[in-house]
Formats: sequence, C-alpha cells, structure tokens
Amino acid sequence: MKHLRFTLIIAFFAIVGLNEASAQYSQITPAPYSIERKDTDDMATFDATQELKLYIDADSKTAERIRAAIATSGLKVKEVNKPAKKAFLNLVIDPAAVKEAEGYHIATTPEGINIKAHSGAGLFYAIQSIRQMMEGELKGRWLEGEIYDYPRFEYRGILIDISRHFRSVEFLKRQIDMMARLKMNRLHLHLTDAAGWRIEIESYPRLTEYAAWRKQATWKEWGYGERGHVEMGTEGAYGGYLTKEDAKELVRYAAERYITIIPEIEMPGHSEEVIAAYPELACTPRPERQEDLCIGKEATFEMMQAILDEIIEIFPSEYIHIGGDEATKRSWGECEDCQRRMKEEGLESVDELQSYMIHRIEKYLNARGRQIIGWDEILEGGLAPNATVMSWRGEEGGRAAAEAGHKVVMSPHAYCYIDAPQDAPPTQPEAIGGYLPLEKVYSYDPTPKDMPEEVSKYILGVQGNLWAEFIPTDEHYEMMLWPRAMAIAEIGWSQQQNREYSDFRRRAIEIVERMMEEGYHPFDLKNEIGERPESLQPIKHLALGKSVTYNLPSRYYAPQYGAAGDATLTDGLRGTWTYADGRWQGFLGRGGVDATIDMGEVMEISSISADFMQYCGPGVFMPCLVEIAVSEDGENYTKIADIEHEVMVEDVPSFKNFGWEGSVKARYIRYKAHRSKFSGFLFIDEIVVR
Ligand code: ACM
Ligand code: ZN
Repeated sequence: MKHLRFTLIIAFFAIVGLNEASAQYSQITPAPYSIERKDTDDMATFDATQELKLYIDADSKTAERIRAAIATSGLKVKEVNKPAKKAFLNLVIDPAAVKEAEGYHIATTPEGINIKAHSGAGLFYAIQSIRQMMEGELKGRWLEGEIYDYPRFEYRGILIDISRHFRSVEFLKRQIDMMARLKMNRLHLHLTDAAGWRIEIESYPRLTEYAAWRKQATWKEWGYGERGHVEMGTEGAYGGYLTKEDAKELVRYAAERYITIIPEIEMPGHSEEVIAAYPELACTPRPERQEDLCIGKEATFEMMQAILDEIIEIFPSEYIHIGGDEATKRSWGECEDCQRRMKEEGLESVDELQSYMIHRIEKYLNARGRQIIGWDEILEGGLAPNATVMSWRGEEGGRAAAEAGHKVVMSPHAYCYIDAPQDAPPTQPEAIGGYLPLEKVYSYDPTPKDMPEEVSKYILGVQGNLWAEFIPTDEHYEMMLWPRAMAIAEIGWSQQQNREYSDFRRRAIEIVERMMEEGYHPFDLKNEIGERPESLQPIKHLALGKSVTYNLPSRYYAPQYGAAGDATLTDGLRGTWTYADGRWQGFLGRGGVDATIDMGEVMEISSISADFMQYCGPGVFMPCLVEIAVSEDGENYTKIADIEHEVMVEDVPSFKNFGWEGSVKARYIRYKAHRSKFSGFLFIDEIVVR
C-alpha cells in the first residue's frame, strides 16, 4: 500500500473548483489524510449510483454494522459471497495494508470500489466518506482515484450535559448518528450534577426517585433560585433519568457506530443532588446545601463504589469519568470526619484530601479493569498514578499531566466550550456568556508545533463540551452542537497541514443544509454575522490618539480590564463581542466612567459618542445616565448632553451607543457615564469624536 504524502492533498485543494468531479472528493469531512485522483484528460468517472455487488470480508458482527452503514449511505447494493469482477464494492479488513488504527483506503477503478481497512471502524469510516460523496452535487459519480485516510488523534469526542436538562434516548441517538458521520468516536455523558442525577442506580434508588427531579425547569429559576429537589411524581416535577435499559440501548447503538460512551459520575464536588438524596454523605455539622461529598466518612466510599459497580456493568468503556472539578473544599476543613481522615492518612491539605479520594477510586476501578479520567483539578494534591486528565481550565493542566507521563484529552474552555454563543450574542438565545464562533473552535490545535514530542505523544485527542444550564430544548441543544462539533471532529481527525478554515466552512455549510433537510436544527452557518462589525477595522476620528485624563481620584478602570490603559478610549480600536478582548475598558467603581479628552486645540465638533455593552450574567450593565460637557479652556464647561437610560435585566446581551450630535466649538470633552442601581461593571471601548 502506498502511503501518499500530504503534498498530494494540498495539490488537490489547489484545483478544487476547476472541475466538478474533483469537488466530489472535496466534500469529505473531516478532511482526509490524502486524496489521489486520476488526473487525465478523459477524466473517467465512476458511477456509484448503479447497483453494486457488495462483498464484505470481515467477522459477522462487523459485517452487520457495515451493512447497516451502507443502508444509509445512498449506495444500492446486492451482497455476493465472493468478489465480483464488475460494478463491485469490496470491503476487506487488512491490517497489513492499512497500518493505522481506524484507517481505511478507498480505490475507485472503472470496474468498482475496493475498500481496505485496519479494522471494522476503518470500514465504517470509509462508508461515511462514500456517503458524503454520494450526497454531493454529482450524485454519486466521481473520478477514479484513491483516498488514504486515518485519524490524527484516537480520541474525538463531545460531552453532552444531560444533568442540567435531561434529554431523551432518541435525542442522543440522533446526535450519535451525526457524530458517526463525522468519524467521532467518544460521547462523554455528563450524567450527574447538582441539577439532576440521570442514571438509574438500583442500590441507591433515591438518586432517581428524588435527585433527578426539581420544581423549576429553567436554570434562572432553579440554579439562581432556591435549588433543591422534589419527589418523582410530584405535580409539575421537571427532570428524568436513563433507566439501565435505556443506557444499555444507547451503549449498543453507539457501539454499532464505533462510538464509546464514557459515563461521568461526579465526585467529590458537583454533588449537591447526591447529598440532597443521601444527606448522611455530607460533612457534619451542616449537611444542608453542601456540594461536596464528605471524604472522611466511609459511607461515601461505600456508596461511590456501589454506584461504580453498577456503572461499569452498564458501560463497557475503558474510561470512567469521575469528575473531580470545582469541589469547593469548604466543609472539609471543619468536618470532624474529614479532619480525622487527614490525620490518619497524613494529608496536609484539603487538596491532598481530594487526591486521597481520587487515588482510592482509581484503585477500585483499576482492580475492575477500568481506568479513570477526570477534569484537570485532579492534579491538585497529587495525580493518581494511572489517571488520564481532561484539561478544561486551559491547556496547562493537560501539559503538566503529559509531562508527568499521563494521558490527556484536551478540552480547553477558550476553544472547546460550545455552550457560549456562536454568533453575535445579541442575536443568539440566552447563553452562559462569551462568544465562540466556529472559526475560533476550528483554530484550536491540541498539539501545536511548540509542544515537545515527549508531551504531545500523551495527547489522546480533543473534546467539545456542551454544558446545558441555558439549553432547555432539543432544538437548542442541536443548534449549539452543530456545526461547532464538526470543527471538533476535524481537529480530531485531520492532519493539521490539511486543515484550512475557509475550505472547512464551505463543507460545513453544505452539511448544515443537509442536516436541516433531515430535520436537525443546526445553527444556520451561511447566515452567520460573525465578529462585531465595528471591531473589524480601526476607525479614524478627531480624538484619535488624543490624551485622556480620568477624573476620579481613585478606582477608575479595573486593572484586569484596563485594555490599552489610558490610551484605550482614543486608540481607534472598537471592541469585539467580548469584554475581555483588550479593547473594552471596564469600570467597577461607584463613580463609573469620567474621562476628559484634550483635543489639543479648539475645534468644531459635531458629534461625540461611545458604546457600552450589557451582559447581565457576569454583571456587566449599561449606564443609567451619560453626561457630556465641553470646554474651550479646560475650566469652564458647558453641558451639551444628558442621556438617560433605563437599565433592565435582560436575558440577551446588548450594545448601545450613547452620544450627542450638534455643533459646538471646544478643546476639552468630558464624558461621564453613571452606573445604574445594579452593581457591576461598565464597559466602554472608544469615545468617538467627529
Ligand atoms: C468544568 O467545566 N467544570 C469541567
Ligand atoms: Zn467531611
């Protein structure tokens, strides 16, 4: 088998669009490792729409999965029991020919299609590529040629949070279908969290009889409200859970599509619902409203181990995710049981106490043939010897773990947290905050060039995380997932040299169209607005580069949101959709914004304005009043504007201009923005003077 070099694929991309037949190959997402097509004058095309004689040389379980994949591929086939000579589709497992795990090779000749693969997964992925070629413009007629393909990373995953809002088996199957088409292979189910426990555990029935239900449907009412849980069957109770049979059905369905479901059982933090159902697992003396399990009490280990016994019986995944993130660690310091544990075990800090629990749970699972994976906080207090780390707070945790020889899945929030809005936030439904467009997700590289080989070899892959606090419906979940999860798929599968955003975006738009035809609800990528238009180009105006004095005696812009310091308000750079971009300047003090611009000389001025933003979640509000005054001498000011604004709490972010227009002569401009009754930040990007 020839191993084609990526130069071929680059040559291939260069001629995309020159003829339609080549476009057929360029529809494959994620972009394949290499494509070689017969580039002759006659450009023979193969007609894959004719009935093909299907021959599968694989074990019966694999053959069954491949037949099912072919049935949804658009190919018409008739199965035969030896390879045919004409109009054939031959599928063979041949690890000697295709060395890379999950890899495949497709060769199209005038007589038929030969597919070889390392394993059943490779055959399955070959069929997914062919499916995409069948769906394209030329409807199943493509040039003779070869595709050699295998993934860059072995772990290509998505997390779906079904704790904050429960989702049905049917919904999850639909996402599994889509993941499989994009050659993703891990579905991490966030099954447990404060808002609801979502998996039946026979030995602890109150987890689903009580901890799976709440009175309030929305996060604003529940998460920011009273919280708490209710008995199953209570009138209006909101929630749900997967029965063991449901979960096993999902595992089976995913496995048929070469996807492993990784269950996450959170410990010791994010466990408010467990404590609500079994208060005896909380630290004493105050069990009510705690989020962390007590690590001093043996009952905690008895329960977690019993739960894990049932979990490993349902989920064959090698990895069991044990959470480990964001424990408050508050109660452990004052709990007699935790203190006794620390003394007995010689633990010097609450970090070490958490680490004790993770070590113990790892040992328990290792003895049963499973491995633990946890969020990067499991590094604190010492990492368990065989643990794999999922790096979310950034990449540092992942790098540190890899340097210590641990396997790592990269999922840094700046690129992989697809719960942020993906387009202009004022146009999107309420979300957790931030702005994470497709292009930014796509730009992520889990093993950049500057990462030493001793580190990068431990990076298993990448995962996109869909946390669901603000995502109450199936349609909304799908909109947040797709197409950003396609970017995660391509990061995980395609060689970095073969990745190019504009080409990916073109393919993603086509897939989005197809998904809509099929009844999915992806974000309509072709109508994307993108980054805040004002921020795209520096602007020129009369105050550009002029000096600004802040009039408050103290506490003017907040140090972490100083942007370009005293130059910010006249540097010509307008802010993006997010306030932490180094362009927006943030003011936390009571006094708000009070800045004077010295224009250098008296001049004719016809407008003065500035934009503010509002993101209520993180406490960013509009001003309630803007005052503008001007002066020729810097001593005697004339007020020219008093702009009042009624500040209201709103679900969706907003941007608003506060300005004056008219005609005045001045050298000094004083722009004052007053904070409303809501305590929080004011953010302003530029005082524009014309
Ligand atoms: C996390 O986002 N707390 C893993
Ligand atoms: Zn305790």
